[in-house]
Amino acid sequence: MTASKKYKALFFVLIMFVIISGCSELNDAPPEVVAENLTYTNDMKEIFDNNCIQCHIGDTPPAGYNMTSYEGVISKATAGDPNSILVIVSDDGGSMHIYYDSEQEIEKVIQWVVEDSLAQ
Ligand code: HEC
Repeated sequence: MTASKKYKALFFVLIMFVIISGCSELNDAPPEVVAENLTYTNDMKEIFDNNCIQCHIGDTPPAGYNMTSYEGVISKATAGDPNSILVIVSDDGGSMHIYYDSEQEIEKVIQWVVEDSLAQ
């Protein structure tokens, strides 16, 4: 092997080492967890605005449920209660389940009602 080939081989090994150790660092990272202490203002409003208010808006919204304000949204939920109507319709099998973009959004809604007690 010529000197330059040796350096190339060495360089290659070095690069592989950097890539592999980089990957193992990624794998060691803790799994992404849902943020603690969700609030209506910071976390929930965006979800309801994106998925729900196209219907639940105005003076005569479906089921009389206007979701454009905090007061409106919490009218169909009870702090800490997993049997709140908002939770039931959002969870698997619920009538509004399909309107969400991801399971993560639904997990957040449930966490917000049950654990974060409808924090504003
Ligand atoms: C395409 C229109 C539409 C969208 C989008 C929509 N809804 Fe509804 N929603 C309805 C209709 C119609 C009803 C009344 C009939 C029913 O309960 O299925 C309703 C009823 C409800 C009820 C009341 C159920 C009851 O028994 O009082 C809740 C709570 C609700 N929706 C939450 C949501 C949430 C949360 C979203 C967003 C993820 C959403 N809705 C998106 C049309 C919609």
